Amino acid sequence: MTTVTQSLPAVQLPAVDSLDRFPADFRWGVATAAYQIEGGAREGGRGPSIWDTFSHTPGVSFHGDNGDIACDHYNRWESDLELLSSLGVSDYRLSVSWSRLQPLGAGALNPDGVAFYRRLLSTLCDRGIRPLITLYHWDLPQPLEDAGGWPNRDTAHRFAEYAGQVLRALGDLADDWITLNEPWCSATLGYGTGAHAPGRRNDADALAAAHHLNLAHGLAVSRIRSERPHARVGITNIVTDIVPRTRTADDLGAVRRLDAGNNRLFLDPVYTGDYSAAVRETFAGLGLDDLIEPGDLGIIAQPTDFAGINHYQRVVAWHDLEAGYLEVGERPAEPATTSFGWSVIPESLTAVLTRVAREFTTLPIYVTENGASFADYVDPNGHVIDTERVEYLRGYIDAAGEAIADGVDLRGYYAWSFLDNFEWAEGYSKRFGLVYVDYRTQERIPKLSARWYRRLIADFTTQG
Ligand code: NOJ
Repeated sequence: MTTVTQSLPAVQLPAVDSLDRFPADFRWGVATAAYQIEGGAREGGRGPSIWDTFSHTPGVSFHGDNGDIACDHYNRWESDLELLSSLGVSDYRLSVSWSRLQPLGAGALNPDGVAFYRRLLSTLCDRGIRPLITLYHWDLPQPLEDAGGWPNRDTAHRFAEYAGQVLRALGDLADDWITLNEPWCSATLGYGTGAHAPGRRNDADALAAAHHLNLAHGLAVSRIRSERPHARVGITNIVTDIVPRTRTADDLGAVRRLDAGNNRLFLDPVYTGDYSAAVRETFAGLGLDDLIEPGDLGIIAQPTDFAGINHYQRVVAWHDLEAGYLEVGERPAEPATTSFGWSVIPESLTAVLTRVAREFTTLPIYVTENGASFADYVDPNGHVIDTERVEYLRGYIDAAGEAIADGVDLRGYYAWSFLDNFEWAEGYSKRFGLVYVDYRTQERIPKLSARWYRRLIADFTTQG
């Protein structure tokens, strides 16, 4: 059995300077998502999701990779949870697969799917690890896409119905629930640029998807509360730090539009109760007002218990008449980049956390994802020495500590990801894991970063 403690050379591990700033009950976790790790695509009564269809379409994902097998976590979950325990984490953020639990996107839950997650969650409980469960991490059942997908308002109701059923079936095994993961990606990449499933390209559809995802969140919160009044519930949004290339009015306008499309379209209605002027101006002409039915904004803004924030990078934006309907050019800010080409600027995490706390919500915040892909490899000694990732995590966790010092009520941090996994359109070419996965053999090799994270958590616990 692979655990984090074994088989790594003695190397100096850098410390996080600001550990004493984190509250004693701070949650340290790692995160995954069902389609990215489970595999078992046709096992246990699971039906196809939009990601099965999309990734099997020639030419859309790197190498034609798909999630049919992924990390085979569906069959290896027990040993994976043992490995997870050896990291010393207090929490594990995972998602449940809608098409495993409710293959048609409607009707009764699939008993095999329920049994799978009940076993997994009970084992987490036995191991003293708190689950934080995402109900939707991008894997819409294909029958719901066939009925129109997220641009169809009814999908929001289907999601709420599903959320209620999941809470009825699994709610005794977890207290903490996330409705949606990064609706920006589902809407914009799924229906606008077509880079993600279902691969549609229409700006008005993307906007309709965005509003219906926001609505789905709100409707699901009500269902969750009526099923399990004591459950804690929130939504996870990606918040990107956007800076202008120059201080000209044109470039500042580009920042405003990009921020409206990437951040505000999702943060505004949930935390402020309405779409801001920036959002309304940016999407003028795409019919936002026609999408909003009486009562929607109240449903979307109903109280939640925490705010989930995923953060990856800072981008530079400028006005670009040639570029798409937002007329915004963007590129990762300098200097360092990950193997994705994303910037490595830890202060950007401090910036987004303080921004969310000042402009949007006083709720407790969790960094539900943060991490980096690098070109990891197994060296001749069988080790994966990912010093760049250690440095990345050290910097970003320090930056989270800065945000706490600035008054942000940050309660937890979840490194993305526990395992290398299926990175959507990038297939298996991008490795984000603290644990290396050899996809030919399914061997797990904890990287140096896994040992570093384990020590960070141990130091923190001892210090408390
Ligand atoms: C955010 C997404 O939630 C996750 O699924 C993805 O793998 C990471 N970003 C890295 O791109």
